[in-house]
Amino acid sequence: MEDSGLTMIKLGGSVITYKDKPYTANHSIIRQLSEEISTALKEGLVRELLVGNGGGSFPHYPAKRGKLAGGIQAAWQLEHLVETHRAASELNHILITEMLKKRIPALSIKPSSAGYTRNGVLESFNLHLIRKALELGLVPVVYGDVFLDSAQGCSIVSTESILSYIAKHIKTEKIVIGTDVDGVLDEQGKLLDRITPSTFPSIKHHIGGSIPTDVTGGMLHKVEMMLRIVDIVPTIYIVNARDPGNILRALRGEEIGTRITR
Ligand SMILES: Nc1ncnc2c1ncn2[C@@H]1O[C@H](COP(=O)(O)OP(=O)(O)O)[C@@H](O)[C@H]1O
Ligand SMILES: [Mg+2]
Repeated sequence: MEDSGLTMIKLGGSVITYKDKPYTANHSIIRQLSEEISTALKEGLVRELLVGNGGGSFPHYPAKRGKLAGGIQAAWQLEHLVETHRAASELNHILITEMLKKRIPALSIKPSSAGYTRNGVLESFNLHLIRKALELGLVPVVYGDVFLDSAQGCSIVSTESILSYIAKHIKTEKIVIGTDVDGVLDEQGKLLDRITPSTFPSIKHHIGGSIPTDVTGGMLHKVEMMLRIVDIVPTIYIVNARDPGNILRALRGEEIGTRITR
C-alpha cells in the first residue's frame, strides 16, 4: 500500500470518447476503466485517489465553435461558453455514474465552480473541497472545463493544468495519465520510456498537439505540465489507457509507457 500522498489518474478524452464523433462517449472503455479503478482501491494499490477526466468530443466542439480559447470578445460567444460547461459536465456525469455502479465513492467537483483564472492561468481553486473529500475517503473527480477569467472573460483549462495546480498544493505521490497512444513517441514512432528536464529540450520538437478539434494542446501540453511538477511528484506516467490493465500496471509500478522524472 502507498504509505503517503495522493495518487491522481487522468482518463483522457481520447480514451473515454470517440474524439472525432461529437458528443459520443465510449461506454465500454468507461466501464473497463471504472473496473480498474475499483480494483486498485480494493487491492490497496492507492489510498487517496483523485481522478481527472478529459473532455474529448464533448466540450472541445462547442469551445472551438465559440472561439473560447482566447476569451470572450462578443456576446454571441456566451451560448457556446455555457454549452461548453454543460458538455463537460455531461461527460463527467457519464463517468461518475459508471464509477458509482462499481461502488467507487466518486464525487464530482465542478472545476468551473471551484475556481477562476487570470489570462488562462488558474489563479484560485478551492483546495478545501479536495482535501475534505480525500479526508472522508471520497474520490474527487475533476475535469477540463471552461472557467470564468478575471482578465479575458473566460478560459479553457485542461485536466492536466488542474491536476498540476492541485499537485502543487496537496502532496502527490503518483500521477498516471491515460491517453490513446503508448506514451511519448520519438521521431521514428518509438516509445520514449523516460523524459527528464534535461532530455526534454532535445525531443521537444518531436512532440506535438492533438487533433484540430482539440482546444487544449495534446501531448506536448501534457509533458510540459508534468515537467513543471516533476520535482515534487516522484512518479509520473503517461500510458495507453485503451489497453485493458495498463492503469493498474502503472499503479503497480511496472515498466510501462513513458515516465517523467527529474
Ligand atoms: N511525440 C508524440 N508522441 C505521442 N503522441 C503525440 C506526439 N505528438 C503528438 N501526439 C498526439 O498527442 C495525442 C494525445 O494527446 P490528446 O489528443 O490531448 O489526448 P487526450 O485526449 O488523452 O488528452 C496523441 O493521440 C497524438 O496524436
Ligand atoms: Mg488532451
